[in-house]
Amino acid sequence: MTAQELQHALYYTDALLENLQLRWGEGFLSPGGAPELARMLAGLDVGGRAVLDLGCGIGGYDVLLVEEHGAAHVTGADIDAASLAQAEATARRRGLQDSLDFRHVDPGPLPFADATFGMVFSKDSIVDLTDKAQAFAELYRVAAPGAPIVVSDWFRSAEPFTPEMRDWATEGDETYEMDTLESAAEYVRVAGFTDISLDDRNAWFRDYARDEYERLKGPLFDTYVARFGEAQAEQSVENARIRALLADQGQLRPGHVRARKPAAA
Ligand SMILES: C[S@@+](CC[C@H](N)C(=O)[O-])C[C@H]1O[C@@H](n2cnc3c(N)ncnc32)[C@H](O)[C@@H]1O
Repeated sequence: MTAQELQHALYYTDALLENLQLRWGEGFLSPGGAPELARMLAGLDVGGRAVLDLGCGIGGYDVLLVEEHGAAHVTGADIDAASLAQAEATARRRGLQDSLDFRHVDPGPLPFADATFGMVFSKDSIVDLTDKAQAFAELYRVAAPGAPIVVSDWFRSAEPFTPEMRDWATEGDETYEMDTLESAAEYVRVAGFTDISLDDRNAWFRDYARDEYERLKGPLFDTYVARFGEAQAEQSVENARIRALLADQGQLRPGHVRARKPAAA
């Protein structure tokens, strides 16, 4: 196990995977679920495509890509073996073994041949990567000519950090390597993709994060105490409160980037 894998194994414990799914829905380690995926893909024909999902987690979005959006096949890639095992179990349970395939990857170059995928996708995972330029270059390399790239991620505002944002982004259990939506677009452009479009989701996330905070301190609280103990339940409420505050401050801005590898590439 590499140092980064060890850090992830310590971070993405079974308890955290359960904690996140209780608030965000079964199969999801990021907010939004089916409606947010539909927004990421709006107007794009996913039907029949072979998709790569970088940072697939426990595979909830991969199931939706196949079942609701008609992807022919999804390869989920992740560095976390425990998450991949859960994703594989879900694929078996739903009879999707032929359409879903999960691969353990190391940070860095991806173990796929050039021009393998008809679409490259990532949901709220590139924020975890330290070398984002390399990640987008790799996504470009493994995308087939003409293939779309569809990415959602956590972005910061271009404004200086507020004190709350500084604490959250640098002093929590995990530090975030956070960029602005515009700098992600620049990585995508430098990698070679064209027809770039951006969708800042701060307005949606303000409401979502506020509602999540209300649910955690209200109807979900007793479940959290029963599953994770009083201290962890309180901590989860506090984290949700801070995220809602950062969203209100405009500091925390989920967003989507879409682009396309030129057909002649
Ligand atoms: C916030 S979770 C999102 C998971 C999933 N996309 C979802 O939305 O449910 C981020 C995921 O990225 C994975 N990850 C972090 N660094 C990675 C890397 N270098 N390559 C692949 N996956 C990585 C983590 O293990 C984790 O499963």
